[in-house]
Amino acid sequence: MPTAFETLRHEALSCTACKLAGLGRTQVVFGMGDPEAPLMFVGEGPGAEEDRQGLPFVGRSGKLLDQLLEEELGVTRDRVYIANVVKCRPPGNRDPQPDEIAACRPYLERQIDLIRPQVVVTLGKFAAQLLLDTTEGVTRLRGRAFPFRDGVLIPTLHPAYALRGGGTPLAQMRADLVRAKQALAERGIVLS
Ligand code: URA
Ligand code: SF4
Repeated sequence: MPTAFETLRHEALSCTACKLAGLGRTQVVFGMGDPEAPLMFVGEGPGAEEDRQGLPFVGRSGKLLDQLLEEELGVTRDRVYIANVVKCRPPGNRDPQPDEIAACRPYLERQIDLIRPQVVVTLGKFAAQLLLDTTEGVTRLRGRAFPFRDGVLIPTLHPAYALRGGGTPLAQMRADLVRAKQALAERGIVLS
């Protein structure tokens, strides 16, 4: 018997529920990592490299995420789960549009339902605004932990922003990951 998570993944892989299905995606990027992880990351949507490989955060942003995971949390990505707000690549790396985010939302919600992470870290504004149901900008949301389901949600910046923005956003991302580590430790969880 496939697990509920595998069934969900298979459903998503052939999804045509929004216009991104017909705008040049080559494959659906469902997510990767441990579906039982206590820590989950949620980004925006696949870029060109993610679309090519069918995996989230495997381009330049992903390299930075991997580095920060190792340096601040001492883990590789297989210890966490990584997903995106939209599972298909928006053409030309444009922002995902409201109708696309709404159409794809049930997949993310069901991923979170099944993983039941204690800590969710959102990367960039789209994931934070969707999951916290707010229009507040990410630079104002970050630096805090919000109650979320059975645990907390910790908004941080998108790694692509840190790659462009230099030292300050990078230091802020590091501080947010330390917050995530503390939130896990408060719940008796040490990643390894
Ligand atoms: N940016 C994202 O938001 N998600 C990815 O998977 C890759 C880059
Ligand atoms: Fe389906 Fe989401 Fe892809 Fe749209 S972005 S086609 S809703 S999987």
